[in-house]
Amino acid sequence: MVDLSTEYLGMKLKNPVIAGSSGLTNSVKSIKELEENGAAAVVLKSIFEEEIAFEYEDVLKEAESKGYNLDQFDYYDYKIKEDNIDKYTTLINESKKNVSIPIIASVNCVYSHEWLAFASQLEKAGADALELNMFFLPSDFERTSEEKEKAYFQIIEQVQKAVSLPIALKISYYFSNLGPMIQKLSNTGIAGLVLFNRFFSPDFDIDKFEVKSSNVFSAPSDLSISLRWIAIMSERVNCNLAASTGVHDGEALIKQLLAGANAVQVASTLYTNGKGRIGEMLKTLEDWMAGKGYGSLSDFRGKMSQAKSSNPAAYERAQFMKYFGGKKQKDPDPA
Ligand SMILES: Cc1cc2nc3c(=O)[nH]c(=O)nc-3n(C[C@H](O)[C@H](O)[C@H](O)COP(=O)(O)O)c2cc1C
Repeated sequence: MVDLSTEYLGMKLKNPVIAGSSGLTNSVKSIKELEENGAAAVVLKSIFEEEIAFEYEDVLKEAESKGYNLDQFDYYDYKIKEDNIDKYTTLINESKKNVSIPIIASVNCVYSHEWLAFASQLEKAGADALELNMFFLPSDFERTSEEKEKAYFQIIEQVQKAVSLPIALKISYYFSNLGPMIQKLSNTGIAGLVLFNRFFSPDFDIDKFEVKSSNVFSAPSDLSISLRWIAIMSERVNCNLAASTGVHDGEALIKQLLAGANAVQVASTLYTNGKGRIGEMLKTLEDWMAGKGYGSLSDFRGKMSQAKSSNPAAYERAQFMKYFGGKKQKDPDPA
């Protein structure tokens, strides 16, 4: 028998597959099914400050249309926040009662002062760790990149003061200087970094001239961005790394471990292939380890990180110059 256990955010996980934040981690029933199918931990669906603000705006709009005095409606701001946080803390409480795997709460806030109130309430509710889903749109023309980057550090510092839970930070790759930024973030005392979040992306309906949603789910080919950056950052950071985006099967899981990930987070593959996919991924990993003679993940974790590679430049190659320049490969677009 091989040992699949791993350390993540100071917790011992029975294996490296975490159900990432999504609609599948938003109910106790589904979380129980994820545990039954082998998930080692779950990250709850994020609580979104923005969503709560929108709900309040809707109440205000309706009240305005009915001619009410809006001063009375400050109460609703408070009430809507309370109701949403109550729902979320109940989910944490009930999940903790019904499953034995760690429950990682997830917060997405847009105004920095709210992070603190949310974070400490989730800690009180019994979450095992906290994932901060942080993203400031690079199309915000009002703030410089320095201002946006500074906000990450300010928020981390404030949350660290407010809670004693291990904190993971889930980020995007929209930074002007990604490698050094990831390294700096890892030096803040956070316990882990999740590379990377994937966002809702727009598409166009060219008949109706409307913006519509594009692929909500990732494809297996989306693995390459997180794989490259886990491999580059492994051994260069002062915290755990979890890989997210494009991990759809056991081979992708093995690749991320070889790159240096402590754990992977899966979402899209659970929607497209079902929760049973987790068991299949673990079986692939187990068989592969047995075949290679590995007894535990530490026997091979990071074996293919850039730091351990005999060809570190391969991880930084960005242009196709040689790939389609010679006769070896057939150009997919010969025109
Ligand atoms: C339907 C859906 C809902 C999601 N909701 C959240 C969320 O609330 N918070 C979050 O941090 N990530 C959310 N994500 C992103 C996933 O956690 C994950 O980072 C992303 O989908 C990439 O991983 P994947 O390729 O395994 O899907 C969501 C993804 C999907 C598909």
